[in-house]
Amino acid sequence: MKFRHGLPLDTLAPAATVWDLERHRAFQAAVMSKDFYDEEMSRKQEALAATPDMRGQRRAILAAMELGPGEAVLDLGAGNGIMAREMLEIVDPSGSVTGLDAAAPMVAMAREVCPRASFVQGDASELPFEDASFDVVTAAQLLCFLPEQDRALKEIHRVLRPGGRIVVLDTDWGSLVWNSYKPDLMAKAVDIYTRPYADAYVPRTLSRRLRAAGFGNISCNTMTVLNWTPGPDNYAELTTSFLQSIAAASDDFSDDDWQRWVADQEAVAAAGEYMFSLNRYIFSAQRR
Ligand SMILES: C[S@@+](CC[C@H](N)C(=O)[O-])C[C@H]1O[C@@H](n2cnc3c(N)ncnc32)[C@H](O)[C@@H]1O
Repeated sequence: MKFRHGLPLDTLAPAATVWDLERHRAFQAAVMSKDFYDEEMSRKQEALAATPDMRGQRRAILAAMELGPGEAVLDLGAGNGIMAREMLEIVDPSGSVTGLDAAAPMVAMAREVCPRASFVQGDASELPFEDASFDVVTAAQLLCFLPEQDRALKEIHRVLRPGGRIVVLDTDWGSLVWNSYKPDLMAKAVDIYTRPYADAYVPRTLSRRLRAAGFGNISCNTMTVLNWTPGPDNYAELTTSFLQSIAAASDDFSDDDWQRWVADQEAVAAAGEYMFSLNRYIFSAQRR
């Protein structure tokens, strides 16, 4: 079976479409399979988490969460567990951090990274927690994967205590500036890269969705991932290595496309016109 980004090709849909439930189930099955995060993908995830851009993102989320000692926190789509570890340092000693992720390999990785938090495998659209059991819920780069965002937001509302906070970070891929002398080829590469998302433009509808789910006191800030010079620590550099894996498995992006794409980026850098810029949006709100 051919894989793209670790997912069987037939489970993927073009970006900005909403997947039907059957596709979603196939996606979930693929995400939870051992093929999703193989050794190479895990290594790339770790390298990505260590970049200054991702460290800055974690700082921005923590600032928006305004955590205090003793709070009970839920991290949805917890991924590698690094965020959970940083949250635990603040809510300790009487607070708690629970992480939930759909992918078994990610849950295993998170348990190693942060043994003192509790991690469960599950679906963010159907939370296995009691009503009103958390003070704060966060979801970073998760809603983009969900075909049922509204259902997940209602679930978050249910498990938050009245007055509890939600903090969501997501990317709007419409904000991308990635300089190229071959814009058609770049557009094709970005299309392939964003295909695993159910919605590559979450932030532009999120305030409406939050209100509809019963949240108030909504606020929003941006943080820009900005790489204006090339460098091995760049978020863009890691994005490129993910793109390489995706392109290698894709029927729509040939080896020749990949070689031309790399040569184009080298030409842009050699001319001193390197530029990668992508906006993330951090929404905070309160359960009414
Ligand atoms: C891009 S990663 C983000 C990880 C982490 N929040 C961070 O910011 O580093 C998205 C995570 O969401 C998880 N995920 C995807 N669909 C999910 C679902 N329906 N329920 C829970 N987790 C899901 C994936 O397994 C993956 O670990």
